[in-house]
Amino acid sequence: MAGEAKPRELNIHVKTAKRRDYASTLWLKRQLNDPYVRKAKAEGWRSRAAYKLLELDEKFSLLKPGANIVDLGCAPGGWLQVAVKAIGAKGKVVGIDYLHVPAVPGADILEMDFLDEEAPVRLKEMLGGEADVVLSDMAAPTTGHRSTDHLRIVALAEAALDYAEDVLAPGGAFVCKVFAGGAEGDLLIRLKQNFESVKHAKPKASRSHSAEKYVVATGFRGRE
Ligand SMILES: C[S@@+](CC[C@H](N)C(=O)[O-])C[C@H]1O[C@@H](n2cnc3c(N)ncnc32)[C@H](O)[C@@H]1O
Repeated sequence: MAGEAKPRELNIHVKTAKRRDYASTLWLKRQLNDPYVRKAKAEGWRSRAAYKLLELDEKFSLLKPGANIVDLGCAPGGWLQVAVKAIGAKGKVVGIDYLHVPAVPGADILEMDFLDEEAPVRLKEMLGGEADVVLSDMAAPTTGHRSTDHLRIVALAEAALDYAEDVLAPGGAFVCKVFAGGAEGDLLIRLKQNFESVKHAKPKASRSHSAEKYVVATGFRGRE
């Protein structure tokens, strides 16, 4: 699992069927050949993304027994499963996604757009107190227009950080998916002001050709 060597790649060929376009064929080929997809299925995780959080947790010790954890962009539920398992009998796991997420025992899920102004309030009510960890694996569908996509990514990360600054307990942690150069500009300044440590990580389970990485900020300094 986390920390283990990367699972072996397969090379299954997929023919373009009449009713399947080229992009879908490529996607199917990538899924069939992806060792993490097979491993996740065999080990009962909802998504290959589960391995990214397991790796981040192993490296940064984020998910402690009894913790209160919020997972932004939680569908299909792999990170929720990892978080529920890590906190044990106490603590709370709350997730949000605008996609439907089949129930994950031990987690409370809100089906809503996180950018809806009501969403942070609803999440806070569900949590019923401060959070120890705020996770965001949110990614908006890409438009192919580079600067638009970049602006949307930054907007999601900033909204996630606004929320984290509002609900985190002192000492808490914030993990957020970022792309390309990582957390930059105002986002990075805010992270450094509000957290004792700010690091970037690219888990092995994150596809090597993807620009995705994660910023991991620990030691929330608290609100004035
Ligand atoms: C990479 S997936 C998350 C995978 C998840 N960590 C797991 O382990 O199963 C990103 C998710 O972010 C969600 N998302 C993107 N923008 C969102 C928004 N504004 N509000 C809620 N969810 C959002 C998408 O619907 C998608 O399900």
